Amino acid sequence: MPTPFILDVDTGVDDMVALLFAVASPEVELVAATCVTGNVHVDTVTRNTSLVLELADAGDVEIARGASEPLDGGWQPFPVVHGPEGLGAYVPGHHAKAISARNAATLIAQEAARRPGEVTLVATGPLTNVALALELEPALPTLLGGFALMGGAYRAGGNVTPRAEANVWMDPEAAARVFDAWSGLARRPRCVGLDVTERVWLTREDVQAICAPAPSSELATLIGQAVPFYIDFYASTGRFDGASMHDPLAVAAAIDPSVCEWIDTRVEVELAGRWTRGETVTDLLDIRHTRWSEWAKEENARIAVSVDAPRVVARLIERLRGLVSERA
Ligand code: BDR
Ligand code: CA
Repeated sequence: MPTPFILDVDTGVDDMVALLFAVASPEVELVAATCVTGNVHVDTVTRNTSLVLELADAGDVEIARGASEPLDGGWQPFPVVHGPEGLGAYVPGHHAKAISARNAATLIAQEAARRPGEVTLVATGPLTNVALALELEPALPTLLGGFALMGGAYRAGGNVTPRAEANVWMDPEAAARVFDAWSGLARRPRCVGLDVTERVWLTREDVQAICAPAPSSELATLIGQAVPFYIDFYASTGRFDGASMHDPLAVAAAIDPSVCEWIDTRVEVELAGRWTRGETVTDLLDIRHTRWSEWAKEENARIAVSVDAPRVVARLIERLRGLVSERA
């Protein structure tokens, strides 16, 4: 039996790949995609998500619009990374899928409560919608069957500032509330941060392999124009001629946690630092258990510390290629 998944996205090139990966995965029943401002504004995210799911022929997936700005306002987009429309060089056309009357936070809270212990939530954007869902349903952490998030840089540098990763940096207040809500609970959020997501790359050759079964189909056109734009961005940083598959790794880890190695720890989100706002400060040496530490003792996160990148990339290519072939 596939597990019901909700993906909370800010689509986004790698969110797009994450959505397609979820649709292509037999372990997943994608019941909803909830949208949040992040890579692009929530209206664009909602349009992109709808378009992606339509091209993927994803069936009956509820698509909900969510928060239009971070909890404390002040959203700042980065069009250079995902393109002005969020899908790289792909020019989005119409979308036919209806948008839910439910708001994203309401949908997350209600679906978790309706099917206690069944729904897996995967968050691949700023955590604004999840924080708002917690306001509506404080029992969310125990109602969810699973929770995985792409966010943070636990034992690595940041990608927006030297210390902060984009999803947490965009709404640190929301991220802080989310980590707090899971404090001391046995079922911890599985967090894939830059430590591991930056090891999972798609190259230009991989994109060609994915699109090869039907290169001129609309789905292959989307993948073939969006992902290389993201690769160009990474190439421009001088680091690698490939694109990090941050968000697909969150889906892969929610499906099969054995793709990563994990440690349980406590994470605090820096809200005040002049240079470090949005940093995910991680208690790697259990300092909180010393006599002098003022940190709360409870664990609140399960962070990935290593990843079997070749396995994840192979699975991603195989499943996306299969989807392109089936939808041709
Ligand atoms: C995260 O930020 C966004 O740009 C990506 O979609 C991913 O979710 C990586 O830091
Ligand atoms: Ca994202």
